[in-house]
Amino acid sequence: MPRCLLLMSRRSSCVASPPRPVLVLLCVVAVSGAAAGGGETAGCDVSLQDVNNLTLNCSRRGLHTVPTTWPQKIENSVDKDGDVRVTFFNNSITNVTELPSVPGNRIAIIFKSNAIVEIEDGAFSNIQRLVYLDLSNNQISGDVLRSEIFQGPYNNTVYNSIALETLNLGRNQIHSLDRYLFQYTPNLTRLYLNNNPFEILDHVTVLALSSATNLQVLDLSKTDIDSIPLDAFRGLVNLQQIDLSGNKFVNVPESLSIVGSTLQYLTFNNNPIVELNDDSFVGLSNLLELEVGENRYLEEVKRGTFTPLKKLRILHLCHNSNLRYISHNAFRALKDKWTLKEVYMDDNNLSELSADLMPWSQLKILGMTGNSWLCNCDLAEIITKQEAGTKFKDGDIPYCAAPMKYAGTYVTNISMAFCPTFDSTFANKRGFSISNLRPKHVLWSIFGVAVVVCIGMLVGLLVNTIKAFYNKKLRSQPIRYINLHSDTSYA
Ligand SMILES: *[C@@H]1O[C@H](CO)[C@@H](O)[C@H](O)[C@H]1NC(C)=O
Ligand SMILES: *[C@@H]1O[C@H](CO)[C@@H](O)[C@H](O)[C@H]1NC(C)=O
Ligand SMILES: *[C@@H]1O[C@H](CO)[C@@H](O)[C@H](O)[C@H]1NC(C)=O
Ligand SMILES: *[C@@H]1O[C@H](CO)[C@@H](O)[C@H](O)[C@H]1NC(C)=O
Ligand SMILES: *[C@@H]1O[C@H](CO)[C@@H](O)[C@H](O)[C@H]1NC(C)=O
Ligand SMILES: *[C@@H]1O[C@H](CO)[C@@H](O)[C@H](O)[C@H]1NC(C)=O
Ligand SMILES: *[C@@H]1O[C@H](CO)[C@@H](O)[C@H](O)[C@H]1NC(C)=O
Ligand SMILES: *[C@@H]1O[C@H](CO)[C@@H](O)[C@H](O)[C@H]1NC(C)=O
Repeated sequence: MPRCLLLMSRRSSCVASPPRPVLVLLCVVAVSGAAAGGGETAGCDVSLQDVNNLTLNCSRRGLHTVPTTWPQKIENSVDKDGDVRVTFFNNSITNVTELPSVPGNRIAIIFKSNAIVEIEDGAFSNIQRLVYLDLSNNQISGDVLRSEIFQGPYNNTVYNSIALETLNLGRNQIHSLDRYLFQYTPNLTRLYLNNNPFEILDHVTVLALSSATNLQVLDLSKTDIDSIPLDAFRGLVNLQQIDLSGNKFVNVPESLSIVGSTLQYLTFNNNPIVELNDDSFVGLSNLLELEVGENRYLEEVKRGTFTPLKKLRILHLCHNSNLRYISHNAFRALKDKWTLKEVYMDDNNLSELSADLMPWSQLKILGMTGNSWLCNCDLAEIITKQEAGTKFKDGDIPYCAAPMKYAGTYVTNISMAFCPTFDSTFANKRGFSISNLRPKHVLWSIFGVAVVVCIGMLVGLLVNTIKAFYNKKLRSQPIRYINLHSDTSYA
């Protein structure tokens, strides 16, 4: 399906790519020869890049339980500062039991795509240096996620914490989080809760979230929520990035403004919003990148929508198939201190843009493909005089859809000879001003006034004549005070 491929490649230029954790990029090239070891891990591959870099690959080994020992090889081959990655991707593990200790300083464990329904208390207590844990695509429910599962080793009547920084709980069966879930994970910085059936962020979930005070990245996409309680983000004084895509929001949640001083990346795709307006992004004064895409009910971007975003560098406003109007004041009050470098408006339902929407020449990259552009003089001014035509990426030049004679032509190709020269007098003439009055107008006005005065005098004369007539006729009768109107009703 070439059409689909085209769409995908378009999307890649348009959709934001948020920074990913370093450990995920860990990629081991050299494969060590001997993978000898004990018990269930016999079939796993040990890959040793160097003393600082080891991967134990237990993916797709048909495992049903967590191994109780590691291959001997991993004990003495890793430096105490090394990175170790253990992956159980795509097995059939149902119960995460206590894992044996793992050498190294930054440990990643991946349980993605198993059948986990239970996690034992202290499952990771032998791996205090666990920094990355992927439990995504399992059958974990909220009840399984007790704070005890993340307990570190027992020490003098208390449990220590573990080093966990990234926790992926995406694609599970979670409705709610335990309020103490993050008690033993004080360094948690990235939390993925996407694709869970939360529906509402209840009181305990809100308490759990707001206790993760070091959180920088939070993924709440596809969780069926339509609102976020104000208190949910109260404690998140370090939150930089949030994904709210694929939910049921009809407005951008107001509670985001609580984290407005730290939030840098907001992804808000695929929600049933109808318009964006000057309330949508209130308080998000530190946002660097905003993505609002695939909102198929979105029709209008109104006056002042982006005004609060005083530091915005990248705007993705793509794939909103019903978006047909962007107010010329959408960036009101931002034009003097312009910060935007990249604006993507591809694949919407736009046909016109105002030339004064933004200072086009200050952009580095502009995307406008996949709309039904009316190639009029406004567009010509944007493309030529304001140099927008030089900002398109290679191969991403938009086409005109109308008028008929330009349909299918690149917007950069059309000659705008029929447009008035782009000077300020052109814009002014659209308004009315005294200087526009010509002598002809003045004469007609005087004539009009004269006609009105004449008619007035004639009516007056007529009235006096009628009065005189009645006065004569009714002289014998007692004086009655009548006026002309009531008089006619007697006639
Ligand atoms: C581990 O190896 C990968 C691939 O060679 C490399 O990119 C990464 O930086 C290494 N990590 C460390 C901590 O040396
Ligand atoms: C891990 O092992 C599985 C099964 O042998 C293999 O398909 C996969 O490519 C391996 N992964 C890595 C990163 O080597
Ligand atoms: C996991 O492996 C099974 C075969 O054992 C396969 O059918 C399934 O699609 C795999 N799942 C994922 C997420 O890769
Ligand atoms: C999980 O394993 C632990 C330890 O072996 C055991 O006590 C517990 O009953 C198991 N849970 C389930 C649901 O199998
Ligand atoms: C155990 O707790 C004591 C204080 O109660 C602390 O000094 C010590 O560092 C802890 N040990 C470990 C291994 O964390
Ligand atoms: C959390 O991070 C700090 C700073 O990197 C570190 O000193 C501390 O030991 C970490 N906490 C745990 C429980 O590992
Ligand atoms: C764009 O809007 C027009 C009406 O203005 C409509 O006919 C057309 O179907 C819309 N296109 C899409 C992709 O929704
Ligand atoms: C644009 O103009 C060039 C040269 O004037 C011409 O070769 C090309 O076919 C035109 N393309 C479109 C899509 O208008």
